[in-house]
Amino acid sequence: MAGIEPDNVVRSPAHVEKVFRAMRIGVLTSGGDCPGLNAVIRSVVHRAVADRGDEVIGFRDGWKGLLECDYLKLDLDAVGGILARGGTILGSSRVRPEHLRDGVERAKGHVAELGLDVIIPIGGEGTLKAARLLSDSGLPIVGVPKTIDNDIAVTDVTFGFDTAVTVATEALDRLKTTAESHQRVLIVEVMGRHTGWIALHSGMAAGAHAVVVPERPFDIDELTARVGERFEAGKRFAIVVAAEGAKPRPGTMAFDEGGKDIYGHERFAGVARQLSIELEQRLGKEARPVILGHVQRGGTPTAYDRVLATRFGWHAVEAAHRGEFGKMTALRGTDIVMVPLGEAVETLKTVPAERYAEAECVL
Ligand code: F6P
Repeated sequence: MAGIEPDNVVRSPAHVEKVFRAMRIGVLTSGGDCPGLNAVIRSVVHRAVADRGDEVIGFRDGWKGLLECDYLKLDLDAVGGILARGGTILGSSRVRPEHLRDGVERAKGHVAELGLDVIIPIGGEGTLKAARLLSDSGLPIVGVPKTIDNDIAVTDVTFGFDTAVTVATEALDRLKTTAESHQRVLIVEVMGRHTGWIALHSGMAAGAHAVVVPERPFDIDELTARVGERFEAGKRFAIVVAAEGAKPRPGTMAFDEGGKDIYGHERFAGVARQLSIELEQRLGKEARPVILGHVQRGGTPTAYDRVLATRFGWHAVEAAHRGEFGKMTALRGTDIVMVPLGEAVETLKTVPAERYAEAECVL
């Protein structure tokens, strides 16, 4: 990469701002991908390169790119046409926490070698924990939160969530017609490892008949009664939305909880599959599991997510120029604010009982 010319000719007050505040910025996307990542990258590059006179590079495949010094230059051409594209042009990966801990000095060395003034990692819970680790070790970091799960406590919403809910809602609408034709119970599994936000919102939006979430272990007797009452009332089908992390109350139903993967994430054994077997036996009605899986994360982001992602990117660059390191962007009401990374990773935003109660009354 060419260096920033220190002897640029000063032509106007705006130019003065560019010359004296120009930065070298490294961006990366890490963890599970999420619609809107490209919109953040594009926004960072536009604000930084076009408005601030900065230089931006993107590390390939998340933290791995920083640890291996694998990067590409991001100029305005590089981000042309990516606003509506799902995934991430930089690639993503998960890194085991111990690898990153061992790699802190290497990361610092690469930041120094490249002359970077700030790293902007875009990621979820795991990425933000890693960002905090690097920030505590002295690296200048400005984080941007992402996750379709919407479970980061310090921001009202994360981009990707609206897209996932929209995709899940459309699927639920479609599933209703086939469920009705065959008088079936469909148990639709949506993403949500620790929290049931996608299940709750898509279930409400599509008018599902029951929603089960990780925050509130379900009672299989109650669930059976709820679905059974529908059929007794003459209805010909039922849709149950299950967040992938939902579990029965201990001791109420045989249930395989799965195990953990190498990153320490739960590897589920399939709540929809297990519920469909149980409900079919108990109700004497055909039941089928439908797993929406990664379709919720793929494809173009909704307009809402594009706007939120763009605003996060813009504010991340501004925070970097103010020297507000060790923080991340967050949405509070309609404002974007900066919150310490430490706060961001303290707790997860779970579905509160009141929100579940609101949904339950209309299901
Ligand atoms: O954290 C986001 C998420 O989409 C979870 O809802 C889901 O459990 C997980 O990622 C799946 O990730 P992977 O890409 O490792 O299958």
